[in-house]
Amino acid sequence: MPPVLWTETYSIGHTAIDHHHRELVECLVAVQTAIDVQASMAEILGRFDFWLDAFACHAQIEERLMDRLTLPPGSAHREIHCAEHGDFLHEAMALRTRMKTGHCPSSIIENLGLSLIGFDLIRRDFEMIGHLLHEGQLEIG
Ligand SMILES: [Fe+2]
Ligand SMILES: [Fe+2]
Repeated sequence: MPPVLWTETYSIGHTAIDHHHRELVECLVAVQTAIDVQASMAEILGRFDFWLDAFACHAQIEERLMDRLTLPPGSAHREIHCAEHGDFLHEAMALRTRMKTGHCPSSIIENLGLSLIGFDLIRRDFEMIGHLLHEGQLEIG
């Protein structure tokens, strides 16, 4: 399957976060490529672990930003968004366990990339930026 590529249409208008998103998508492509070329399990898992660490770090940075939200809609958003980060991380860790058994076609990694783009980049992060701007807690740069 063709890899999921990052495009400018996924940009949410925050330079640092957009950079992270791009790297996260590219790191998943590297995992997918490693599977497709039948690289060693150590290499595949190593690349996946690099991506897992990068996602966990990214989620933490967004969660620190959301700590600035104090109004009820912003707080409600933070709760949902943080829970989704946690669910996604669990899903990815379960996938890692599955990868170790050797039953992980690269299409599963592609689906993970689509899921990342769908919930985080496109939906929740756009909402987060809106709440931060609404509360005057963000300078877009
Ligand atoms: Fe997020
Ligand atoms: Fe994000």
